[in-house]
Amino acid sequence: MNRLIVVSNRVSVPKAADSKGAQGGLAVALAAALREHRGIWFGWSGNETETFTGHLNMQRQHGVTTATIDLEHQDIDEYYNGYANRTLWPLFHYRVDLTEYERSFGAGYERVNQRFADSVTPLVEPDDLVWIHDYHLLPLGKFLRDRGMNNRIGLFLHIPWPPTRLFVSLPFHERLVEHMLHYDVIGFQSREWLESFNHYVEKELGGTVSDDGTVEWNGRRVVARAFPIGIDYAEFMAAAESDIAKRAFERLKSSADGKKVIIGVDRLDYSKGLVERFESYHRFLTEHPEAAKDVVLLQIAPPSREDVNTYQDIRNTLEQSAGHINGAHADVDWVPIRYVNQGYSRAELAGFYRASRVGLVTPLRDGMNLVAKEYVAAQDPEDPGVLILSRFAGAALQLAEALLVNPHSSEEVGDAINTALSMPREERIRRWQSMVQSVRDEDVIAWRDDFVTALKGPPANANPRQ
Ligand code: G6P
Repeated sequence: MNRLIVVSNRVSVPKAADSKGAQGGLAVALAAALREHRGIWFGWSGNETETFTGHLNMQRQHGVTTATIDLEHQDIDEYYNGYANRTLWPLFHYRVDLTEYERSFGAGYERVNQRFADSVTPLVEPDDLVWIHDYHLLPLGKFLRDRGMNNRIGLFLHIPWPPTRLFVSLPFHERLVEHMLHYDVIGFQSREWLESFNHYVEKELGGTVSDDGTVEWNGRRVVARAFPIGIDYAEFMAAAESDIAKRAFERLKSSADGKKVIIGVDRLDYSKGLVERFESYHRFLTEHPEAAKDVVLLQIAPPSREDVNTYQDIRNTLEQSAGHINGAHADVDWVPIRYVNQGYSRAELAGFYRASRVGLVTPLRDGMNLVAKEYVAAQDPEDPGVLILSRFAGAALQLAEALLVNPHSSEEVGDAINTALSMPREERIRRWQSMVQSVRDEDVIAWRDDFVTALKGPPANANPRQ
């Protein structure tokens, strides 16, 4: 079996399911694959040093070998807070208005990718499969090829790929995509992002895309495909059956005091549509006063990327909005929004999801969105809740039986909340059964196996060095 070398910005070997810091299913699935393949997981340690040392810290954690490097302040500033999260993240989520274009960010991004390439190269043996993750590391494949690496190298992008007309606002966009065309396989979350990528390659670079998904450009052949990611269903269900989950369920049920709970769980990020969500809920409260007193919205939103100004802005806006709505509607014994800025373990979240009649998942743009899938997985089969899901999340393609909404329309989302709250049990069961089947079958293990199989595929690049 080929060894697997996984490279991502963050390295996070999952601890127990009840640990608050644990990342969800992706870390679990990758860690399992790394154990089976005797692989290595490489990335940034999350630590900052005064000057870059390049020191490789190898560790064995829960059966997985990890290799990490520290970054210096300027790297974190220009690569992580800069190009990754001030340039690519907003642009790839269609927010040209929030995108910052600074030459120093682009230079820092390439410098850190070169540093990653320097550190990873000595770890890789000739038959290893190299699997790179996400928007932090788009050019890494090219930099590995420059160091003579002929291995199969794949990239999976966890976030959307923007339409060509937006993408060309990025200075040096050709360079970025040309670097990406040094992978053997490029995976996207959905057909929509794949089509945007292919469109760019054809229209802007003069490449060709065949019916089987092979992209050809300048003598290189790359398989570009959609690989929709899923949750680790088995692992999540085990967490959902734990005592911690049961206690969390009871805690929310008893504090809701007979009211129906609407739940939202999101990193505090402008792409998640939280301001619009609160506005829609406000509209629901105003237009359906008879139903309003029987519900409560629990919005869990742990802060994220706090050194980036747009994240500070969204946090302030949301605090104001929650305060405004609560001020306008609350009573002595009822607060309409419980707005919580802390994170919870998967097991606790599973209990909260099960205790909630409605899952409100309304990103303005999202590569996939696994909260939607976890909400479905956690439901009681005899009395499931209703998922309200943005049409603009990758997950909408698989969860067609959710109440699909346009998150920009507070009227539409407000009406959907009302529909969800009064939906008869038979209809809830029918919709849930169809959704849970795809959540269970198209899980993260199937996703991972599918990608690794494509990565192993026939050698696409007979003479990959150029
Ligand atoms: C998204 C990205 C991931 C990232 C995560 C958390 O899901 O696709 O690559 O790790 O957000 O963001 P952070 O900046 O805290 O790593």
